Amino acid sequence: MAVSDIGQLAYEPDGNTRCTVGSARPWYTPRRMKDPATQTGTFILGIDTSCDDTGVGVVELAANGQVHVRANRVWSQTVHAQYGGVMPELASREHVERIDSVMGQALAEAGLNVTDLGAVAATSGPGLVGALLVGLMYGKGVAQALDVPFYAAHHLEGHIFAAATEAELRAPYLALVVSGGHTHLFDVPQDGEYVLVGATRDDAAGEAFDKIARLAGLGYPGGPAISEAALLGNPDAVAFKEPLQGQKGFDFSFSGLKTAALLAHKAGARPEDLAAGFERAAVRTLVRTTVRAAQACGRQTVVVSGGVAANRALREAFAQTGLRVVFPGKGLNTDNGAMIALAGAAAIAAGRPPGTLGESATAYAPLATPPAPP
Ligand code: KG4
Ligand code: ZN
Repeated sequence: MAVSDIGQLAYEPDGNTRCTVGSARPWYTPRRMKDPATQTGTFILGIDTSCDDTGVGVVELAANGQVHVRANRVWSQTVHAQYGGVMPELASREHVERIDSVMGQALAEAGLNVTDLGAVAATSGPGLVGALLVGLMYGKGVAQALDVPFYAAHHLEGHIFAAATEAELRAPYLALVVSGGHTHLFDVPQDGEYVLVGATRDDAAGEAFDKIARLAGLGYPGGPAISEAALLGNPDAVAFKEPLQGQKGFDFSFSGLKTAALLAHKAGARPEDLAAGFERAAVRTLVRTTVRAAQACGRQTVVVSGGVAANRALREAFAQTGLRVVFPGKGLNTDNGAMIALAGAAAIAAGRPPGTLGESATAYAPLATPPAPP
């Protein structure tokens, strides 16, 4: 559900520093990393409580660098549906109530005891600060109790690394993160370096799915509801003009589609037709802009992640592009803990030193900036 429904509390557009992680440091070996010769891995706990999902996952990082998701448990909060947007205080409280049991389920799914964990990663931003704090503090507590390294993870980097289960994720590639709070296009020229080449100028794509579904009475969450209704609709019944056609850059905009949906709804359009027309226009703008950016950056591989990456029509359209397109595996598109564990695994594999227990939560956490003008 889109956070901006209840104000500009989080998920603001990216800001002003380029952030580089990894590579230039010596290999860092977590305390519980077993003998590389045995190929036995380190179990990394990942926690995400950035918005309205309590996610806890466990991945195994093998000594040869391969990662395997051993558990991925998510409690999706339904309390917000009645308000039509995420209520931050309710989200925080529910994270507090649920996180321990979600953690227990994740360990059971992985077949592990808590003492088997070799490192902990938790999202520190961007997101709702109160919600983030729950997972961050919980993760720090586990790391301190076990005396294992703690990594503060970036939510968007987690989304990108969710695709690492499907293919080896090696730069250079382009990454489209498309979710309820973000529509960001990053060029990744080197592992750990993110250059923002495009972003939404208004609503995030998932936010538009959610708002149009609500308008059309299709229910929540809007993405899957629109996708299902679209199968029964006529995409030509309502005119949806593809946004930002003719632009030279790689930005996105969804507010015009929202307005078109509102006007058509008032004029009596069928919800299924609204869904079909909007989904086609949203998919086209996402795919065309991403393909242009891939050509401009000279990238053959594109990672598409975030909740909207679960969309069937989007996946089918990307499959026609001729690019190597990598999507996260099942259950890894929407917010979850395993993607944060994967980001932790990438940090360990890159030799990045762990964070301190002083790491704090932040609503606004830019991953990258646009490249400087030539
Ligand atoms: O990544 P995510 O769980 O949360 C954020 O970080 O925002 O993404 C949630 C968003 C929601 O807007 C939801 O409607 C959208 O992902 N979504 C979809 C689909 N499944 C989830 N959008 C389009 N098609 C889907 N199948
Ligand atoms: Zn997300």
